[in-house]
Amino acid sequence: MRVVDAFRQAYGGEPAGVWHAPGRVNLIGEHTDYNDGFVLPFAVPWGVTAAVSPRDDRTVRIASLQAPGEEQVLEDLDRAEGWARYPTGVVAVMRGAGLPVRGADIVIDGDVPKGAGLSSSAALEVSVGLALNDLYGLGLEPMELARLCQKAENEFVGMPCGIMDQAASALSREGHALFLDCRSLAGRAVPFDLSAYGLQILIINTGVHHELADGQYARRRQDCENAAKRLGVPSLRDVTDLAAALSRLSGDERARTQHVVTENHRVEAVIGLLRAKAVPEIGALLNASHLSLRDQYQVSCPELDVAVEAAVKGGARGARMTGGGFGGSAIALVADDRVDRVRTTVEQAYAERGWAAPTFLPATPAAGAHRLH
Ligand code: GLA
Repeated sequence: MRVVDAFRQAYGGEPAGVWHAPGRVNLIGEHTDYNDGFVLPFAVPWGVTAAVSPRDDRTVRIASLQAPGEEQVLEDLDRAEGWARYPTGVVAVMRGAGLPVRGADIVIDGDVPKGAGLSSSAALEVSVGLALNDLYGLGLEPMELARLCQKAENEFVGMPCGIMDQAASALSREGHALFLDCRSLAGRAVPFDLSAYGLQILIINTGVHHELADGQYARRRQDCENAAKRLGVPSLRDVTDLAAALSRLSGDERARTQHVVTENHRVEAVIGLLRAKAVPEIGALLNASHLSLRDQYQVSCPELDVAVEAAVKGGARGARMTGGGFGGSAIALVADDRVDRVRTTVEQAYAERGWAAPTFLPATPAAGAHRLH
């Protein structure tokens, strides 16, 4: 294994073990996680592999095959830079929680497509977190691990994300999507084998990442919190009468509320359709989710909109942006025999606008984080 060879070269000797954690796509339930709502992500076949050994002191040495020459040796974890803040943040948060975590030698290798918005950061956190859990006998359940990783990203990286990405990486099951109630944190594996229906989820990676995205994310969270406060509810999850709520709100708070409340219902509707084995019908809900994210939540961008519109025009059953927005990927639900036409239609739409061609990846639901060696 490449990561083991790199570990030997960097530190001499064998790693104590090798762990893998996947990235994710979200089928539906966008910007609902930090509103105590519902999400339905699944793990993708790409992720981060970490070769790790424990140490007797408190030093963390970390290197990445994707960042040659940027090895960091940290006695003070606060000095970690760039990509290394994600995994070292997990060490720091574990120690902060009183867990007996000493140092570690770490080499990581990732194959999540760049800029695709498929949560390579969660994969980075969870792979190293799971390694430490095993090596130091912490006894953390997957959801506890996911929460520590989310805390690391919130506090050490400064991205105020919800729980979805880390939970998807830590808890997913092969062939299943993860239906997660982000309030109770109860998760349920929902069978999601599209091949039985002659369908697939096609990821369309726009390859773009618009600046502002991070500040916009925090602003959306704030809009939602303000709206909930004005409505006198703990979170937008608790809005039961949407019409009454909207009549008491205006501007951004009104639009964000409209999205979050309807998006939660769409997740539940998708769950119902999957249970009924009416899989092709979820396409209409994917389309509705995209329009709501574009018009009410305002986190889409021209590249995502064109990908979605062209995919549908090319014969997809439905399509939507996935993840935080402002770039990254869209997903399309496509019959196997329509995939080529969908691809060509999207490629043409991009070419007409003079944009660089997007890339296409079939997404089959993969396993969550686990030990490889
Ligand atoms: C990012 C965050 C998640 C979630 C999505 C939007 O991926 O990390 O917690 O909020 O955006 O659904």
